[in-house]
Amino acid sequence: MGVIPPEGEDFSHATFAKKREWQFPQFPPQYPTVARHYPPILRKCQVGSENNPPFVDETYWRKYLEGCTLCTMSSTMKTAPCGNGDWTMTYDPESVKSQGTDERAIDFDQVAHVYDLYVSTSIDIDFWADVACRSGGPRLEMMCGTGRISIALLRQGIAVEGLDYSRAMLDVFRSRAAQAGLQAVLYHADARDFELNKAYGLIFIAFHSIAEVVDNEDKLRVFRQVRRHLAEEGVFWISAHNPPARRQGLDGRLVDMGHHRLPATGEDLHVTGRYHLDPSSRIVTGSQSYVFSNGEKQLRHIDLPVRFHLIDPGMLEALLAEAGLVVTERRGNYDGAIYSPKTSPFFLACCKLA
Ligand SMILES: C[S@@+](CC[C@H](N)C(=O)[O-])C[C@H]1O[C@@H](n2cnc3c(N)ncnc32)[C@H](O)[C@@H]1O
Repeated sequence: MGVIPPEGEDFSHATFAKKREWQFPQFPPQYPTVARHYPPILRKCQVGSENNPPFVDETYWRKYLEGCTLCTMSSTMKTAPCGNGDWTMTYDPESVKSQGTDERAIDFDQVAHVYDLYVSTSIDIDFWADVACRSGGPRLEMMCGTGRISIALLRQGIAVEGLDYSRAMLDVFRSRAAQAGLQAVLYHADARDFELNKAYGLIFIAFHSIAEVVDNEDKLRVFRQVRRHLAEEGVFWISAHNPPARRQGLDGRLVDMGHHRLPATGEDLHVTGRYHLDPSSRIVTGSQSYVFSNGEKQLRHIDLPVRFHLIDPGMLEALLAEAGLVVTERRGNYDGAIYSPKTSPFFLACCKLA
């Protein structure tokens, strides 16, 4: 068996040719996994030279790309000789027919009414308030949910708008803002495809929500939208899990997410989850269970399928670069610590227009 190249590996011709263990016949069977994760890097790589013709041809790539998320990519892939006798394999991501998936990784519409009960952390609020204060406006939080962060900023007098594709999450945001006498400017839109006709001084995606955009082609679409909506001097901040630090509780065991009381009805809510990490794709699948009871008996329950992707920071940067965004600052935690690949719990990146 060949070795699955780690995420973030450089697939440029310089290293590609040297990695003998990835070469035919071992490497191609692993390829669908790799292709899902490396669309920008695979845009062009050398697969042979005059004296060493390609070890895979187009038919071969097509066969092994069948069934992968970006399988339609194979129709645009070409293995061809280039001028100096080398062979390159290229594809054009712009012409990828599949535009990611319309399936929601987590359908928050189902649990929006209780989200603020089981996600009550304020660990990142000061960080985002600081980022917002250092940037010019207007500001936009993408995937803002119920406004856990944006409402905290609005309370501090920091103007920020929100965007989310869950109508129910935005409804909670709106009613929380109204109760606090705050002005909420909210957009019900998919982060992969929206047009606000506005240029922002700050756009941010917080709370590792980008993990819910599981497909890398979809992440690219999100980052292209960010780029289109960023002012010339604007900044884009994104937070993600640092995969080595996000391993706990992803082994199929039951994770207790606490007991809560619904203020409106006095009902008890017990939230648990089960998650499985696929180590090669780093996609986590599982489900969360929401059991409502009146203390004595169960009244109803919601089973929520969950899917998210622990993207490698190197790959994230490659996708950002592909979208025309360059990382200018990297933090590893909300206290502002510099990012360290091995030890940081998070990957927080600041980007500007390339
Ligand atoms: C984990 S919640 C985080 C909400 C909020 N930022 C917070 O910190 O509590 C993720 C949010 O991202 C939204 N979301 C996921 N994918 C999205 C997409 N493609 N477009 C817009 N919103 C999306 C979900 O509806 C959900 O409200």
